[in-house]
Amino acid sequence: MSPSRPLPPVLAAAPGVADTPLPGPEHFLRPGTLRLPAPPPLALYVHLPWCLKKCPYCDFNSHATAGLDAATQGRYVDALVADLEASLPLVWGRRVASVFIGGGTPSLFEPEAIDRLLAAVRARLPLEPGCEVTLEANPGTFERERFLAFRGAGVTRLSIGVQSFDDAALARLGRVHDVAQARAAVAEAAEAFDTWNLDLMYALPGQTPAQLAAELDTALAFAPPHLSIYHLTIEPNTLFAVQPPELPDDDTASEMLDLIAERTAAAGLARYEVSAFARDGHRCAHNLNYWGFGDYLGIGAGAHGKLSFPERVLRQVRWREPAAYLARALEGRAVSNQHEVARAELPLEFMMNALRLKDGFPLRLFAERTGLPPSAVLAPLQRARERGLIVWRDEGTADEWVQPTPRGFDFLSDLTALFTPAR
Ligand SMILES: C[S@@+](CC[C@H](N)C(=O)[O-])C[C@H]1O[C@@H](n2cnc3c(N)ncnc32)[C@H](O)[C@@H]1O
Ligand code: SF4
Repeated sequence: MSPSRPLPPVLAAAPGVADTPLPGPEHFLRPGTLRLPAPPPLALYVHLPWCLKKCPYCDFNSHATAGLDAATQGRYVDALVADLEASLPLVWGRRVASVFIGGGTPSLFEPEAIDRLLAAVRARLPLEPGCEVTLEANPGTFERERFLAFRGAGVTRLSIGVQSFDDAALARLGRVHDVAQARAAVAEAAEAFDTWNLDLMYALPGQTPAQLAAELDTALAFAPPHLSIYHLTIEPNTLFAVQPPELPDDDTASEMLDLIAERTAAAGLARYEVSAFARDGHRCAHNLNYWGFGDYLGIGAGAHGKLSFPERVLRQVRWREPAAYLARALEGRAVSNQHEVARAELPLEFMMNALRLKDGFPLRLFAERTGLPPSAVLAPLQRARERGLIVWRDEGTADEWVQPTPRGFDFLSDLTALFTPAR
């Protein structure tokens, strides 16, 4: 499978919404059928849902705004704090291992607003020492002083959404920035932060392998500690779904992926997940927690969360429309919907995340994170091995390890489909 877009902690459409009071923490501590030995690591995702313009390919929960005045920013931070406050009983006593402020375009917010947000988080939830705090920034929405001020507020890692180093491609993607602004943003990020990420997309409308090679050269010349490269996908409910652009065919896209693998490796960036490449010591802790089926509390408009209890796993989603979220969160009712993950769904949910990791995972992680015995996945694992999609090392020992083969990595959707529950 080619590098796909990030697994969104925020989906385009919220599931059916119930406006009745939601059960509290006692409800989730009652006896169930799972047996989680200990809570998984906990991350915090914060969604800021506004952008200067809606990009025609984007199905994230992002809404165009002419600008965000200080009052709206202040009210939204108040709502986030109220959301967090109301969520605390579900995560009592737990430490936060990473924070990710995503969007939307979080860099539209003033550093003072981010400072107040992070101070409020720290006052309510203990952060692990060295906790990674990422903020997504778009070129053209900031200047050097802002970057330094974000760092001063406690942001430790910037993720710059460049998407392309070609002006014509940026225009076709409907981006508000140009290459000069992208270059300036990346250079400033490199100066202000010890670790940062550069987001690119490939297989863009009209793109050739030679053009992608030139873009990769530009990106790698900045020596990014981390690079995310996503295959542009046409998502339902986007402008591109209605007016599809001409895209490179599958063979060209696969040639492009080979090019990406070669150039990144030569530049010292190791591919560690389907779409993620990093130097030693610069892997994204926050995303690794998702892929390891860790827990995350998601606050903000449309944010999704996953929280584990000793005998069940809960998924939550917040009100999606910013205005609805603002009103409800300030009343302490930010969650629009929550449900327990059915026991039968857990193997697929775990594998859809963990099999994205190039090095694979210890099989004991499956039992630790789902509360199910390893026997729940032995049959599909055996089938995957027979088809040459995984390697299964030290079987039957405490060090048992599962790793997708290069073929399994190329056909990840076929591999994960083996874990679909029988209906
Ligand atoms: C939710 S966006 C937020 C980042 C920021 N607002 C930006 O646009 O640069 C995170 C990343 O998802 C990727 N992305 C969004 N829509 C995509 C799509 N349809 N196909 C592939 N990647 C996509 C882009 O690379 C983007 O940087
Ligand atoms: S700037 Fe990012 S989040 Fe906003 S619409 Fe474009 S891709 Fe989506």
